[in-house]
Amino acid sequence: MKTLISGGTVVTAIDTVVADVLIDGEVIVALAAPGAHRWADEADQVIDASGKYVVPGGVDPHTHMELPFGGTYASDTFETGTRAAAFGGTTTIVDFAVQVKGESLLDGFDVWMAKAKDNCAVDYGFHMIAGDINERSLSEMDVLVERGCTSFKLFMAYPGVLYSDDGDILRAMQKAAETDSMIMMHAENGMAIDVLREQAIERGETDPVYHSLTRPPSTESEAVHRAIVLAELAGAHLYVVHMSAKEAVAEIAEARDKGLPVFAETCPQYLFLSVEDHVSAEGFEGAKYVCSTPIRKREDGHQDALWMGLATNDLQVVSTDHCPFCMDDHPVLGTQKQLGVGDFTKIPNGLPGVEDRFQLIYHGGVVEGRISLNRWIELTSTAAAKIFGMYPKKGTIAVGSDADIVIFDPAVEWTKSVSQHHMDVDYSPYEGKDVKGRVETVLLRGNVIVNGDEYVGQIGDGQYLPRGRVTVHH
Ligand code: URP
Ligand code: ZN
Ligand code: ZN
Repeated sequence: MKTLISGGTVVTAIDTVVADVLIDGEVIVALAAPGAHRWADEADQVIDASGKYVVPGGVDPHTHMELPFGGTYASDTFETGTRAAAFGGTTTIVDFAVQVKGESLLDGFDVWMAKAKDNCAVDYGFHMIAGDINERSLSEMDVLVERGCTSFKLFMAYPGVLYSDDGDILRAMQKAAETDSMIMMHAENGMAIDVLREQAIERGETDPVYHSLTRPPSTESEAVHRAIVLAELAGAHLYVVHMSAKEAVAEIAEARDKGLPVFAETCPQYLFLSVEDHVSAEGFEGAKYVCSTPIRKREDGHQDALWMGLATNDLQVVSTDHCPFCMDDHPVLGTQKQLGVGDFTKIPNGLPGVEDRFQLIYHGGVVEGRISLNRWIELTSTAAAKIFGMYPKKGTIAVGSDADIVIFDPAVEWTKSVSQHHMDVDYSPYEGKDVKGRVETVLLRGNVIVNGDEYVGQIGDGQYLPRGRVTVHH
């Protein structure tokens, strides 16, 4: 099957060029000046992309479909979450398999592989959450690397649940250095935060806003600093997830200026939402915006610092940390955010976003003049593909790359709402936001899976993607 995408503006992390793109089967086989070859005559399908951007499918390296958390599960299954990802222009996700305390890393990996198998609309890989570092899990890291799971997430937060102490972290980092794999870090000082949370509840400070206020920026930046020190000691690659504090960005910048292989991401919620406008909303509404690291105060300049970090490459990736929980009871999972009515410490942590990210970063970044078109693609696709060993199969439009392609209409103006999204969650954190630019058509390995408002793929089209090592050094 040959498909021609004709006359669009092809945008990669490097180039912006009007070109025809020829796809044969699952891969891109040629690019040429528009009409330079008679490809339309031999193609089975021609998609006219004149006036549109033709961009690589988004790569979201941080999602949590079906994650067990706080007595419930993230409401998107692999089926609903990856279909929503497709609608949003994301054709690859890297989700997190979980090792629970007392169990093996490999068992956790197998469980998550089984959950995803035949249930995904887009391609998927896994990082492994190592929740119990011991001799056995350290040796299992070798096996997982061979299976294409080349990154391991550790938690400096959530004591008693997924938390690792500094000794365990150092041992896991040494193992990662030995296997040339990546350590991903949830960097917050969980021990200190637990004290602050307990004291807040004792004072009767139970509303959702206290979730943000009991995780001050220093609890993030201290942990980021410590993670960098430990990674340097071990000689490991480090990738800090879901950064939200400007002080933490400064720690990353300092480490990178020293030449250390340190990478970091932020997420749309930290770029667009604030304590003032969202988390401190009336009544229990603020629970919609409870996640960790927390949404921070706009007046303190965190959003501006994050955007600047993205523009200057102190931050390399925008992921979503997609981890949705419903405000009203979910038909299958029951009570979710409302578990924390009267006690913010019981609100499940996480926000939806897998469908929003690609377009929101176009809007807030390109339309509002903070980043270039090429940087938009680098932040939402190319950099994650390089850092997590998927490039150039994923993350670019080039001869030989998978034909994961989004045709994006930059002219459409629309308003975001829960009523038009496809994620299985009953609110949008961006409700009522006017935006410009919209995903029009999505191809996964050469097949059209989204055509306007219609999903035309099949659940199960998405394949497991074994990943290699990091292919970018700074
Ligand atoms: O609030 C968050 N981030 N929920 C998902 C779990 C995690 O820590 O990434
Ligand atoms: Zn985390
Ligand atoms: Zn996460």
